[in-house]
Amino acid sequence: MALYVKKSYEELPDLLQKEGVSGARAMVVADTNTLPLYGDEAVRALSKSFAQVSTYAFPAGEEQKRLSTVEGLYQALISGGFDRHDVIFALGGGVVGDMAGFTAATYMRGITYVQLPTTLLAQVDSSIGGKTGVDFEGYKNMIGAFHLPAFVYTVPKTLETLSKREFASGMGEVIKTALLGDESFFEWLLDHIYEIDEREPKVLAEMVRRASSIKARIVAEDPREEGLRKLLNLGHTLGHAIEKYKAFSLPHGYCVALGCIAAAKISHGRELLSTEELFEIRDVFVAFDLPILVDGIDKDAVVALTKADKKMQAGQIRFVLLKKIGKAVVSTNVTDAELMDGLSFICAEDALKER
Ligand SMILES: NC(=O)c1ccc[n+]([C@@H]2O[C@H](COP(=O)([O-])OP(=O)(O)OC[C@H]3O[C@@H](n4cnc5c(N)ncnc54)[C@H](O)[C@@H]3O)[C@@H](O)[C@H]2O)c1
Repeated sequence: MALYVKKSYEELPDLLQKEGVSGARAMVVADTNTLPLYGDEAVRALSKSFAQVSTYAFPAGEEQKRLSTVEGLYQALISGGFDRHDVIFALGGGVVGDMAGFTAATYMRGITYVQLPTTLLAQVDSSIGGKTGVDFEGYKNMIGAFHLPAFVYTVPKTLETLSKREFASGMGEVIKTALLGDESFFEWLLDHIYEIDEREPKVLAEMVRRASSIKARIVAEDPREEGLRKLLNLGHTLGHAIEKYKAFSLPHGYCVALGCIAAAKISHGRELLSTEELFEIRDVFVAFDLPILVDGIDKDAVVALTKADKKMQAGQIRFVLLKKIGKAVVSTNVTDAELMDGLSFICAEDALKER
């Protein structure tokens, strides 16, 4: 699956041709934030390749990631006369991408779609790898399908309008990716803290290119998450549990940051990481406006939530540890005491007691 990082949507027609994607109709799926921001530019470009270009926007937010929104989208496709040869374009963050992808996976038993990700999280993570789906009855991503996009076309310029909070959340995934897959990328991030914070276009383009290609490489080797792809869950086991414990009030990337720091502490406890590496990892999150401590958590409750997570297999937690910066490994024998040690390191009340 090809990834393109471009300055604008202008090159879409050429790349559609190159990738062999054609049809009479295109549907641009977006949310109520992304359609007004980038809809016109995308539609203008797509009008050169398709006779009919329609748009469909649903209200922004995770609450909309549900089957009823997908039903609305099916209705729009049917009334627009879309058939199996037509194409969906997902213009937005992970919520738009997951839902447009799921619609494409299921409409008429599957049609082609292209990802046009507009959040940092979507550009480096959710648009790549073909996991699509919706939340169901309080469970995240409970209903879904694997359905690869024809390609991913990213315009990092769209990050200019992203809020500070959403940008920092995406940085959580960027740092996670560097930690598990590429030490030189980790060093590069440290060397570009200022430029990234200033959102310098060339630096953001390079960052998105590097982070997305690490994920793409891993997914290509293990598309169905049977082995290697599990490494992408670094920081997610405890991170998800904290996210759930905090009733989704903290952005996903903040929880991933906390989860990565806790995983680094457990790795340090096993003498996989030196003390210097542990603190280097913790401090990089500070540099990118991410939390390194969380308050008001009951550690026992978080451990219990960790065990209820989907990433458990036959009663064992599959926990991603760091062998070194840039190299991750899956462990199935992380103990409750180790989980408590990792949590204690990111627990604000415990940090106060240490002083
Ligand atoms: N499929 C996967 O592999 C995968 C991986 C990770 C996360 N996810 C999913 O991704 C979702 C989270 O994605 P997200 O963080 O992108 O959230 P999101 O899609 O809700 O976007 C966050 C907010 O930013 C707004 N926005 C998007 N682009 C913008 C831009 N360029 N400028 C200004 N505002 C913009 C959106 O309207 C929204 O309000 C979750 O549902 C999660 O489950 C999926």
